[in-house]
Amino acid sequence: MRVELASELVLKKRAELQRSSREIGVSEEYISLLVDTFYDRIQNHEVLGPIFGSKIKDWPPHLAKMKLFWEGVALRSAGYQGKLMEVHAGVEQARSWMVPQWLDLFEQTLKDTAPNEVVVEHFMLLARNMGARLASTMPDA
Ligand code: HEM
Repeated sequence: MRVELASELVLKKRAELQRSSREIGVSEEYISLLVDTFYDRIQNHEVLGPIFGSKIKDWPPHLAKMKLFWEGVALRSAGYQGKLMEVHAGVEQARSWMVPQWLDLFEQTLKDTAPNEVVVEHFMLLARNMGARLASTMPDA
């Protein structure tokens, strides 16, 4: 297949995925609310709070980055250019058993804020996949 044709198909697929995400109720406004609420809760979490507290000194840039990240995965936009795996390799206190706690808190936040159950599942599917990849790189104990 010609390169131009392949990249045209990729762009078309991305536009379709973005349209279907928007149809179920995902938007930049919702992602902003989700990220603000989740990291507010994270800071009060018994296990995760101190880890984030020790790494993040200035929250507004982290929140802005996380909004770009979730727009990237949930709306297929291209704003986040970070290195997810490398950054977590630098979070020395993280353990694989903490990932289910992160996911539980994320799911509860979604249930409390999302416009409908489909949006909850959309984000959880993406988060579980990345959580599993991250957990496999973290020490168990
Ligand atoms: C045990 C679970 C987790 C812990 C303890 C954790 C901790 C952290 C910490 C401390 C940072 C800031 C690092 C720094 O700026 O030095 C960070 C960044 C980040 N985390 Fe996590 N995380 C966890 C799970 C996840 C999951 C499941 C996702 C995705 C679904 C995720 C996505 C991100 C992203 C996108 C960043 C920004 C990376 C960048 O700077 O480019 N994290 N995480």
